[in-house]
Amino acid sequence: MFCNSVFLRVSSLAFRWGIGRMCRYNLLILRGKIMKKKLDVHPGSDRSHPGPVPRPGILDIAAYMPGKSGTKKAGESGEVFKLSSNESPLGASPAAVAALASLGGELAAYPEGSSADLRRALGDVHGLDPDRIMIGSGSDELLHLIAQTYLGEGDEAVISQYGFLMYPIATRAAGARPVFARDVDYRVDVEGMLDRVTGRTRVVFLANPNNPTGTCLDADALRQLHGGLPADVLLVIDSAYAEYVTAADYSAGEALVEAHENVVMVRTFSKIGLAALRIGWMYGPERIMDALNRVRGPFNVNRAAQLAGEAAARDQAFIASLRDHNRKWREWLVEQVASNGIRAIPSQGNFVLLLFEGGHPDASAARMALENEGIVVREMGAYGLPDALRVSIGTEKAMRKVAAVLNSAGDL
Ligand SMILES: Cc1ncc(COP(=O)(O)O)c(C=O)c1O
Repeated sequence: MFCNSVFLRVSSLAFRWGIGRMCRYNLLILRGKIMKKKLDVHPGSDRSHPGPVPRPGILDIAAYMPGKSGTKKAGESGEVFKLSSNESPLGASPAAVAALASLGGELAAYPEGSSADLRRALGDVHGLDPDRIMIGSGSDELLHLIAQTYLGEGDEAVISQYGFLMYPIATRAAGARPVFARDVDYRVDVEGMLDRVTGRTRVVFLANPNNPTGTCLDADALRQLHGGLPADVLLVIDSAYAEYVTAADYSAGEALVEAHENVVMVRTFSKIGLAALRIGWMYGPERIMDALNRVRGPFNVNRAAQLAGEAAARDQAFIASLRDHNRKWREWLVEQVASNGIRAIPSQGNFVLLLFEGGHPDASAARMALENEGIVVREMGAYGLPDALRVSIGTEKAMRKVAAVLNSAGDL
């Protein structure tokens, strides 16, 4: 009897405890759902697509559109001429190709982390201190690294009106604001750039020669730009096309780097035959290199790129042959199109910006006519230049085809 009543009490307690637990459990689930609902309405999130929200400014970035690789329409010969990304028309340095082949199947080990051999080669060739050279996976990586390290919320970067599109992308990705300075007739205006510098400016990006205009500041103008900047503003001189410059008064920026604590020079192997391997490099003051090295990934440049890059850097004869070819066909193309009312902006790069200002033919008709012959060039709408096309200097055959199509412009 006693046992029965104890049993009944215990089971009734257990039952009540169970119900209580269940209720508490249901309440927790309900609370979780309410919490989840609350989290769904995080400011900036899209109610119909709940999930992680990028930092403010990221969705303002217009993604970089690379030059088209091909066209569905090949010319009569079936050939396609890619003149949309300023690559080498003579391929890669044979020494670089051989160095790449020497890698064989050695793929299991991480590469040397600082690209020491490649830095030493660049130091030898350019007379620079290898300890103040940094290698990147393309100069794009280095531009992002600079922005990540020196820009943040509330900061500004000054960029010329038609400056390379990666500068505003890297600036916005770092949470900062790009500020644009007007060009004067497609040339960077030093006074205009300096007028845009304020107490919020942390970085000034300058491509010299500039892509896509091809125009270039001489060494004096470069000094004037640097001389007008406060000591805490970093001047980034992006000399991606330095190997193609033929102007006698040009400086790629090494001298300014040597003399000052707030200048870096950025270069690339992409325009001299190794775009596929993604190799960029930078020269700067020790303190800046130290800061950037803290952010850089420990194995950011792969072994294949290091091997081929070292050989390419030492093969100055190949670079000279590229420069000679480029000078010849750059001048030739400009002369050819001039007679057709197409304005070619004088270029120091391995490309020419063509302006179809008169409207006949217009840039898109010209682009389509070129594509029909298998020639792919770069449209310039993303730079705010809808009446322009950028044409990379290609092989002799490609250049003759471009001129022939544009010279029949009246029929387009
Ligand atoms: C001015 C300028 N800087 C940097 C780059 C990026 O080069 P990389 O291929 O080394 O990332 C380019 C590529 O077109 C460029 O035109």
